[in-house]
Parts: sequence; C-alpha cells; structure tokens
Amino acid sequence: MLSLLAFALLATAFSFATPITNHVVHEKRSVAAASWSLSHRASPDSPLPLRIGLKQSNIDKLYDELLDISHPDSPNYGNHWSAQQVADYFRPGVETVNAVKGWLVDSGFEHQRMRLAKGGQWLEMNVTVAEAEELLKAEYHVYEHPSGRKHHACNSYSVPAHIQEHIELITPTVAFDALIAPPKRTVPFSKRKRSPATPVPGAAKGLGDPSSGNGPKLLPGSSGKLKGIITELEQCDEFITPVCLQTLYDIIYKPIATHKNSYGITEFTPQSYLPADLDMFFKNFSKSQIGQRPNLISIDGGELQTIEESFNFNGESDLDLEYGMTLTNPQPITLYQTGDIPEGASFNNLLDALDGSYCTFEGGDDPTQDGIYPDPLKGGFDKPESCGIVKPANVISTSYGMNEADASLFYAQRQCSEYGKLGLMGTTILYSSGDDGVAGFGNECIFPNGTQGVGGTRFNPSFPGGCPFVTSVGATQVNPGSSVFAPESACEQVIFSGGGFSNFFSIPSYQKSQVASFLKNHPPPYTSAQFNNSGTSRGFPDLSANGANYVIAIDGEFELVFGTSASSPVVGSILTLVNDARLAIGKGPIGFINPTIYSEGFRDAFNDITTGGNQGCGTPGFTSAPGWDPVTGLGTPNFLKLLAKWLILP
Ligand SMILES: *[C@@H]1O[C@H](CO)[C@@H](O)[C@H](O)[C@H]1NC(C)=O
Ligand SMILES: *[C@@H]1O[C@H](CO)[C@@H](O)[C@H](O)[C@H]1NC(C)=O
Ligand SMILES: *[C@@H]1O[C@H](CO)[C@@H](O)[C@H](O)[C@H]1NC(C)=O
Ligand SMILES: *[C@@H]1O[C@H](CO)[C@@H](O)[C@H](O)[C@H]1NC(C)=O
Repeated sequence: MLSLLAFALLATAFSFATPITNHVVHEKRSVAAASWSLSHRASPDSPLPLRIGLKQSNIDKLYDELLDISHPDSPNYGNHWSAQQVADYFRPGVETVNAVKGWLVDSGFEHQRMRLAKGGQWLEMNVTVAEAEELLKAEYHVYEHPSGRKHHACNSYSVPAHIQEHIELITPTVAFDALIAPPKRTVPFSKRKRSPATPVPGAAKGLGDPSSGNGPKLLPGSSGKLKGIITELEQCDEFITPVCLQTLYDIIYKPIATHKNSYGITEFTPQSYLPADLDMFFKNFSKSQIGQRPNLISIDGGELQTIEESFNFNGESDLDLEYGMTLTNPQPITLYQTGDIPEGASFNNLLDALDGSYCTFEGGDDPTQDGIYPDPLKGGFDKPESCGIVKPANVISTSYGMNEADASLFYAQRQCSEYGKLGLMGTTILYSSGDDGVAGFGNECIFPNGTQGVGGTRFNPSFPGGCPFVTSVGATQVNPGSSVFAPESACEQVIFSGGGFSNFFSIPSYQKSQVASFLKNHPPPYTSAQFNNSGTSRGFPDLSANGANYVIAIDGEFELVFGTSASSPVVGSILTLVNDARLAIGKGPIGFINPTIYSEGFRDAFNDITTGGNQGCGTPGFTSAPGWDPVTGLGTPNFLKLLAKWLILP
C-alpha cells in the first residue's frame, strides 16, 4: 500500500518535470469494442502506421456556396463547379498542413518521416508505440479478435489544443472498425428463399440484398401476376403504365439533345435487370425500344448476376429501367451497377466511383458500413476500389435507402457533404423516401434507449433522404375508382410514403417557411418524443410521384408493384427531359433543385397533394395538407409547368 502511494507520488512529481503542453482529449471510445478482447499492453517498439486526417477547408461554406449557384434569385445561378474546383476548394489548407507538421517537428519527428497522402487529406508517418504514446498522451493495448486478428488501440488520445481545429481524426487509435472482417453471409444468396428476411441492421453495404428491405413491393398474399387486357388510360387507378404517368404529369416531350445529356440509375448487386424483361415491357409499351439496353458502368465489380432470378432480385432494376428508359426515350440511360456478388456495396461505393476525391476524404469508407475493395471474400472483386471512374450524370436516381438511425452522425454527415459537392458540380441527386411511412425498414421504430425495433415509438426517418443536399421523393396514388385526371392522394396501398423529420440534420433555409407553415397550420398530434417538432430539423420528402400499381415485366410475367422505388425514377425522368430542353438551347443542367422547387416562382409547378397519410410506429403518421407536408413534400411535378419555368432561368 505504502509503496503504491509512494509510486503514485513519484509519478506525479515526474510528470510535473516534463514540459507542459496544453493537450486536450480529441477522441475517446464510448462503447466497448464488440467481439474484441483485451490481450496485453503493447510493446513499446511495435511499429504503428500513424495516419492523421486533416480538416478540410471551407466545409462550413458548402451550404452557402451551393445555394449561391442553385437559388433561382442568385446572380450565379447555374454556374456549376468542375470536379477539380471542388477538390481544390475543400482540400486541407496550407495552414492546416503546416500547423500539424509543426506540431510533429516540435515533438521531435523529422520532416522526412512524414508524407502527405493522395488528395492531401492525410499526413502519414511510421512510428513506434512508444512514440505514439508520448505524442498522443495515450496508452496502447493489443486486442484480439476471435478470428485471430490483432489490433493496437487506445481508449482515448489527446493533441495540443491549438492543433485540434486542424485535425479530423488519427488512426490507429480508438476505432476498431478497420480490422473487422466483413461479415460472412450465413446463407449464400443463391440459396436464399424468395421472401425477404428481416433487414440487416446497421449496415449499408448490403443495399441490393433482398433482406435490406429495399425494392418494390407486391400486394401481400398475391403473386402480383396480371391477367387479361388492360385499357390503359381508363384504369390508371388499378394499373399504372407509362401513358398514365405521361397524362398525370403532362409529360409531353421528345428529347433532342441526348448526346449532351445523361441520366444515371443506380442498382446495387445482386439486384439486376433481365434483358428479356426490358423487351417484354417495350413490346407492350414502347415498341421502338425493343433491343435497347442501358449503358452499364460496373462499379466495384458490379455485374448483372443471373444466379438468382426472382422478384426480389430483379424487381427493382426491371422497374427502374423499364420506366426510366420509356419515359426518356431515346435518351441513353447510364446504369451504375454497384458492388460485387459476395460483398455488395453502399452509397459510399457509388460516390467513390463518381468523385475520386471522395475515396479517401475524411478517412474513406467505413468497413462496417461500406463495401471494401479489393474484396477479401472468396470469388469477390479483387481489384482496387472504383475511384472516380465515371463522370457523374446530370440526374442520378437511386431507389434505395437505409434508416438514418443505422448510421453514425459522422458517417451520415460525411456522405451528406458529398451530395452537396455533387450538387456544386451540377448533378441532381434523387433518393426514394422509403415505403414504411414514418417508420423505418421493416416497420421498426426507435425505442427511448436509441435501439430500433417493432414497438418502438419514435419515428424512424430514412437516409440519405434526410440529407439537405438530396432531393427526397415520396409516393402518391390515383385513388381507387378515380380517373387519371382527378387529384392524387398520398399512397396508402401496400406502402406508405416515407416522410418526416431528420434526427441528424437541421433545417436548410430553402424549406424553412414551408415547413413552418405546415407545423403551424396543421400541427401533428405528436410530442417531441415521437419526432423533432421544433421546426429546426430537416423535413422530407421534397416532392413525390405515383408509387402504386405499376405494371412491370419481370421474370417473364407482367406484375403489379408498389413503392417509392417507382416514384424516384419517374421524377428523375421528368428532370432529365427538362435538362434536355435546356441543353438543347445551350443552357446547363438544373443541378441541385431544392432551392428552386421551394422558391416562390415554382409554387404552382406542382400538383399539391392534400389527402392521405403515412402511418407507422403505431400511429396514423403525418397527414397531407395544402402546401408542403412530410408525406408528399411539395406535391407531384407538372412537367410542362416545370419546363416553362426552368427554361427562363439562366
Ligand atoms: C511505412 O512503412 C510501410 C511498410 O514498411 C511503407 O510501405 C510505407 O511507405 C511507410 N510510410 C511512410 C509514411 O513512410
Ligand atoms: C401486352 O400485349 C399483349 C398482346 O397485345 C396483350 O395480350 C397483353 O394483355 C398486354 N399486357 C399488358 C399488361 O398490357
Ligand atoms: C432498449 O429498449 C428495448 C425496449 O424496451 C429493449 O427491448 C432493448 O433490449 C433495449 N436495448 C438495450 C441495449 O438496452
Ligand atoms: C431538433 O433538431 C435540431 C436541429 O437538428 C436540434 O438542434 C435539436 O436538438 C433537436 N431537438 C431534439 C429534441 O432532438
């Protein structure tokens, strides 16, 4: 006892003798590292590849810069940036690099040991455990994983106070993510049953797997198969075909500038389209397109798999392409087929392919969420990840989503900023808002302790639709028994339009007044325990389009499907036609549309949806109302009105 005390005193006295630097804790581990066990104290001379993630410049100005080129009242409207301009603007500044290097030099490291990595976002240096412990006032231990892997980690680390503003994070320190092998599929997907399993919680990389809960839905208990002949325009309440959509949204236009234009549709493997299905659909609804195919861009080994052919594996891709291609004919469609068969992929994998500067940005992808390439799994894509392999299309529609609560705030913010950067480059990013109303995938809601499950009471918003730099698309329906010319309602058949308020992102200025009017004039009967009702969080969706009773050709049959999965490519098609008309007269693409569609001048370009709700979490959800609402957004687009308005913008 005495000797211990003496040792403690001695240690205290000794620490007073060392020079006092004003260190502050930069990161500490809040949760225990699941499945890793503490083995022993790290040996002082073990090597550590230290990587210091540098803070980017100007990230706080992203919103204002984007608004400056996207708000219709701005003199800079439409002045999109090049990819190089974007990369340069956000690259960590010279002061940041110098400040961090200065700290390392002062701590006794020679310049020659440091290296600035690709993209200028990381400073790398090989050190020993002893050097890292002194530099970061940390204590390293070795942890072991049941797989036999070992990992060096500390519980917290510190940096001088004046350095903190220049760095994002340092590795290896508190995080364990980087070394956990991607989870193995328990059942090879080729042997999985047809019906979707429960969603995989917390991981984005399996987006194309039926168990993710993505994809269009069939009428429960029905095969969805259609019998008999349908008389198209008379039966849009029962069967949506292209002519119904053209009639609903005044889509009267034949593209003339296809060589200048581009429309991208994202699919995550193992989702894939079947060529015979496209032709079957074209044969009935757009004969001249028989034989037409999208231009496939393979991202991280993305391929059109044919091991498994069923509704759950072909439904989304067939739907998106059949409607996207028909409504924009003859515009060639770019298909971003993302992820290999064994591992799959996430939104970040898509974004890496569209913007090379994103691949390593702020530490790169998260192995617990994103597909990691080269894929370590057997038979996987064994080449380097697809970084900046394709120029982003003018409009990109993605009918996949995840629960915001499945992402960490840092993960969601990092990805959201990237959508903002693509907006700066002039790309319109559309995401479906989800099919479970105010609930998350599988009707899961949030419990007071933050976990998700059926029976949770807090609404469970979707991501990335809640990111303010994304345009989120909800679903409507032609009411049963109504004509195609009657007003639509929020979709209440089979699916409910995803909508609500983000728990992560605060309200962007462009939607402030509309969201405030909704909350004031139609206050939802819920408490702040159910959703963020303060009027200070991002509301979604932004707009909507029909999502009920789509006739699609799939696996050699015509079937009827439902979902915001259908709505997003339809809105994408309409915006692609607007771009065509602008490009034809020498103007640029419309880019990030939110500041425009919420602006005063566009108020009457939408068919306001005022009936129907989006039930979930044991409640009726929100209710559509005049003006913006968290069920159908601003309403459904009227192509001719949008065209007229966008043609007079610069
Ligand atoms: C660190 O060591 C590894 C392995 O020897 C080497 O490949 C890498 O280039 C070194 N990094 C730096 C910044 O010197
Ligand atoms: C497709 O066309 C065939 C031949 O005209 C017709 O028998 C069938 O009913 C049509 N299917 C649909 C879903 O319109
Ligand atoms: C959170 O709360 C739910 C519902 O009460 C419960 O089922 C779950 O076990 C809790 N989870 C944790 C980690 O406490
Ligand atoms: C509501 O959202 C705002 C903006 O994101 C946030 O500052 C606030 O803390 C949230 N309120 C609650 C109760 O979560």
